[in-house]
Amino acid sequence: MVEPAGPSFTFEGRRYPIPPGGTVLEALAADGLPSFQRSPRYHRPRAPLCGLGHCTGCLVRVGGRPNVRACRYSPADGDVVSTRNAWPSRRFDLLAAFDLLFPSGIDTLRGFRRPAWARGLYQAVVRRLAGFDGPPSPDAASGPVDPPTVRRADVVVVGAGRAGRAVAERLVAGGRAPLLLDRGRSAPAIPGAELLPDTTVTFLPPPGPADPPFSLLGFTEPARGLWIRAREVVVAVGSYDAALLFGSNDRPGVLTADAAFALDRPGAAPAFRAGVVFGAGPRARAVVERMGDRIEALIAPGAVPPELVRACSDAGIDLHPRSLLLAAHGRRRVRAVDICARARGPVARLPCDAVVLAHRRLPHVPILFQAGARMQWRPEPGAYFPVADSSGRTTVPGLWVAGSVAGPSTDPAADGDRVARHLLAGGPAPGAPPASLPSSPAEAPPAPPFPGEMDGYYRELLRLPRRGRWVACPCEDVLLEELEAVPQRGYRGVEVAKRYSGLGTGLCQGRYCLPDALLVLSILEGRPPADVGYITQRPPVVPTPLSALAALDPIAATDGGP
Ligand code: FES
Repeated sequence: MVEPAGPSFTFEGRRYPIPPGGTVLEALAADGLPSFQRSPRYHRPRAPLCGLGHCTGCLVRVGGRPNVRACRYSPADGDVVSTRNAWPSRRFDLLAAFDLLFPSGIDTLRGFRRPAWARGLYQAVVRRLAGFDGPPSPDAASGPVDPPTVRRADVVVVGAGRAGRAVAERLVAGGRAPLLLDRGRSAPAIPGAELLPDTTVTFLPPPGPADPPFSLLGFTEPARGLWIRAREVVVAVGSYDAALLFGSNDRPGVLTADAAFALDRPGAAPAFRAGVVFGAGPRARAVVERMGDRIEALIAPGAVPPELVRACSDAGIDLHPRSLLLAAHGRRRVRAVDICARARGPVARLPCDAVVLAHRRLPHVPILFQAGARMQWRPEPGAYFPVADSSGRTTVPGLWVAGSVAGPSTDPAADGDRVARHLLAGGPAPGAPPASLPSSPAEAPPAPPFPGEMDGYYRELLRLPRRGRWVACPCEDVLLEELEAVPQRGYRGVEVAKRYSGLGTGLCQGRYCLPDALLVLSILEGRPPADVGYITQRPPVVPTPLSALAALDPIAATDGGP
């Protein structure tokens, strides 16, 4: 092959040109959907699931730095990118024998009881397996090189998508100077607002009676810790496409609509050529309209609306309404899926090279749980949303929500503008709950009707015979059987399920496993998902180097800093 002439990085001995401003994933996706790594326990091949920087499907090692997300990392000239969670190589991994040796899962938490003399060895081996990669090399572990920053801000806007930008623009027009934080690196600047790109943030500690009441801990890639004190915070972090439970649901080629859109770039080889879409809402329609020439079939858990029927008909896409997705087939990537019509229809096999998940759009809620906002389960789409009034005020004084994190939104920019207008008009005084919002559980608004569509879907699906591994938590390789064992052993609630199985403890912080785990536990425990609860969100809610935390000066932060 021709060696690149310009800036390049090396992956498995081959040099790749660095696309301008592009990521490792974008560079490697020029050849199609890349599979970077193996899963932690069973060493199953994994590939990007989300394309957003939230899953663990694209972790690589860059030089001595482990667990770098290829979809977010812009390589530097000369970088050496590798994968370590395989031996001897990513493509031929002898450790994949664990996938065959432990068909019912590896018990990494409790070890086995007999013979007692082998218990220590067993635990040493499985604990070594139950994790990604090794520690950073000494040079990579040297920590932040930039001095930590302590900031005070009038209003912090978290998220620079359409809603967050509309909030910031309206605040600037109203004479405020918001600080806008965004995980991405390419959000355009807004005159009058300060934009910090590549920045993740968490509440530390939950908002209290101090003035200013909000203390936020941020981390700006690659090496700056950030402590922010703010009077008001607007959370506009948006939503994402959910994962789905079925056999071999972790196979390369199973990806969310977010990832399908992220990988669909000019000049790149298509991530798939003959995919199936799961879903029947606006998101599935967007996939059909943009990639209809590469979609073979649409599988819907319920009815398919007429406009989507027409779009599929125009694109020559087969329709499978009211169907269950049973299993994916293929060793290195998806080659086919098994489906059946609901109410025990016959099983049909559909050849395909990808499964695009576009059935549920869920809000990014960990930061809101962590801020102490009251949350409420909504059966459609099957997720927790913040309790907020029409102006965007939450139950935490000074904390606002805007856009699709607050609820399904058809016009996030208009939502953001509306929230900012209310904020400018004057929010509640610090320490006083908003008048129109409940201040105790007894006053909480009535729960919406239960159950939702995916609840009925899983009730039917879980009764059927299974094939392939059903991975309930891809980050930690926790199987559905392990989740089902929790209520069988007499434990109740998702927090206990997390502690028992390890589900929800991975790098995605439960984004891709908890929504379905809540539905499954709700079915098994015989009570609504809201009663199953949610896992405790402790700071930080996004991965943050310990060195970034250690470099912060708490006294300077408390006193307002420089
Ligand atoms: S594909 Fe990179 S984190 Fe999900």
